[in-house]
Amino acid sequence: MKPAVYLDHNATTPIDDRVFETMLPFLKGQFGNASSRHEFGTVARRAIESAREQVAVAVGVQASQVIFVSGGTEANNLFIKGTAAKLKPTQLAISSVEHPCVERAAHELTKQGWKLRKLPVDGEGRLRKAEMISILSEPTAIVSVMLANNETGVILDVAETAQQARNIGAWMHSDAVQAFGKIPVNFEKLGVHALTISGHKIYGPKGAAALIVDKRIDMAPLLSGGRHEKGMRAGTENVAAIVGFGMACEIAMQRMDTLATQLKKLREKLEAGIHELGAQIFGAQAERIPNTSFFAFPGVEGETLVVQLDRAGFAVASGSACSSLNTGPSVVLTAMGVEKDLAKNAIRVSLGKDNNAAQIDEFLSALKKILTNLRNLSAIAV
Ligand SMILES: Cc1ncc(COP(=O)(O)O)c(C=O)c1O
Repeated sequence: MKPAVYLDHNATTPIDDRVFETMLPFLKGQFGNASSRHEFGTVARRAIESAREQVAVAVGVQASQVIFVSGGTEANNLFIKGTAAKLKPTQLAISSVEHPCVERAAHELTKQGWKLRKLPVDGEGRLRKAEMISILSEPTAIVSVMLANNETGVILDVAETAQQARNIGAWMHSDAVQAFGKIPVNFEKLGVHALTISGHKIYGPKGAAALIVDKRIDMAPLLSGGRHEKGMRAGTENVAAIVGFGMACEIAMQRMDTLATQLKKLREKLEAGIHELGAQIFGAQAERIPNTSFFAFPGVEGETLVVQLDRAGFAVASGSACSSLNTGPSVVLTAMGVEKDLAKNAIRVSLGKDNNAAQIDEFLSALKKILTNLRNLSAIAV
């Protein structure tokens, strides 16, 4: 049997060979604890600090601004709960299409008296500027807007939101987990106070990510314990994963331009094909990261398509991996005003560095067969 074609890179990516090689020594001989004073510890500490430098360079900050954590989920929780812990509850604002780890963390703060406002998006998934300005004219202490949406791939105007947030003295954060490695992500240019990136979305390992912070940010840690990561993240560092994450950042920067061009071309081919088969593509008029396509075929359930495509050897998603446990329609599509019936038909293809044109051709022909069968079946049922 042919190996399955992986088309779900927004869920996670395979580890790059060079990243894997860099990690290996830290899983075996170099197992030291980076807090230890002996040679084993010093080697681990040096490796972590070198990875910190690689991460910092990739987003244009100083190494001292990088806090290593376990994942994007933890980084987002650290920012939201950590800054809130140092403030009197007022208003916090997030976009209406945030990943659940931002939305739920923000929602939890409402139990402590915070007022949560959601910045609305238009039918293409872009922030509505006038509403954003209006909401951020009210006293607001914390703002979080993702740079690229995990389901649609649509890029949100973080820089403009950051300007508004700064005008009213709010801390501004962006979850750049899906944007990083696919489009340029520069901390200063975005004008944020905090930024989240994650290793396993850029051909690095799971278990390492970073919250990048402005030095002025006042934040409480989530965990009690040692003074690791300048007191912001207690616990013995996952050295191998951090080293792999650093290398993945360096490689991501080297190949970003060529990869973006390659993926955009593949997506154009894919979208031309699915358009012919009758798909509605979400966010197609908006600026998007180059690898993502989120679409639906009217009358064909997304879940059914995902299962049938899997059987045919193609791994795709229905919405985000995290929300696939939810049975309701995608929150993102609902925020975009997509009707419930169409939203539940949505499937996501997210391309990666090892995909090629032949795979897209095979995918389209498998999809065509499946759609024909399903449509024939529903015609019989009627
Ligand atoms: C936009 C976005 N933010 C945060 C996360 C969570 O990141 P992690 O899986 O590293 O915890 C994801 C993962 O899918 C994501 O897509």
